[in-house]
Amino acid sequence: MSKAGRLVVLVSGSGTNLQALLDASADPSYGVRVVAVGADREGIEGLVRATKAGVPTFVEKLGNYPTRADWDRAIAAKIASYEPDLVVSAGFMKILGAPTLDAFPVLNTHPALLPSFPGAHGVRDALAHGVKVTGCTVMLADEGIDTGPIVAQEAVPVLPDDDEETLHERIKTVERRLLVEIVGRMAREGWTVSGRHVRIGNQSEGEST
Ligand code: GRF
Repeated sequence: MSKAGRLVVLVSGSGTNLQALLDASADPSYGVRVVAVGADREGIEGLVRATKAGVPTFVEKLGNYPTRADWDRAIAAKIASYEPDLVVSAGFMKILGAPTLDAFPVLNTHPALLPSFPGAHGVRDALAHGVKVTGCTVMLADEGIDTGPIVAQEAVPVLPDDDEETLHERIKTVERRLLVEIVGRMAREGWTVSGRHVRIGNQSEGEST
């Protein structure tokens, strides 16, 4: 069974999910330490949040490498240097390659109920489709776009006057709470993966969470 005490969090933007993890990890009983924050671009609020919390940061820009494979190797090596038990891709807008995915479990969060509306515009696509309920998904990453085994999901109703921004903000409130809960449980209880099925702790099939 895997456990997740040391976390590297990857961000590309505002980093409110990162902030929720940083806030939760201030309590030692949460069982998680954010040991580094990585990004694929400079000048983002997520990096500022990390620095304010005294957490080391690194930036690996795809454009600084001759090929995607070179970037994949570089970011994997950087992540490895912090010896994480778990990598959390929290609004990180790049697909990680085999060098990272083969070395570490990677948890990802997505603002839609997968397998509906994968990709960079999950909120916009759900709105355009006219769904009445959407939500968020926490899953383990694989090499596909939002295709990995699902760890947890929570529904969020779509309101008649929602636009992409209002709906995304409501989803993010739920997403942050769910991510914090799941990361903490993975750290404290461990988890196993069997095919597409992820189980946290020793919880038996059918037992409620
Ligand atoms: C989250 O909704 C995440 O699922 C999506 O982008 C948002 C990131 O928000 N991919 P933040 O940077 O954590 O505030």
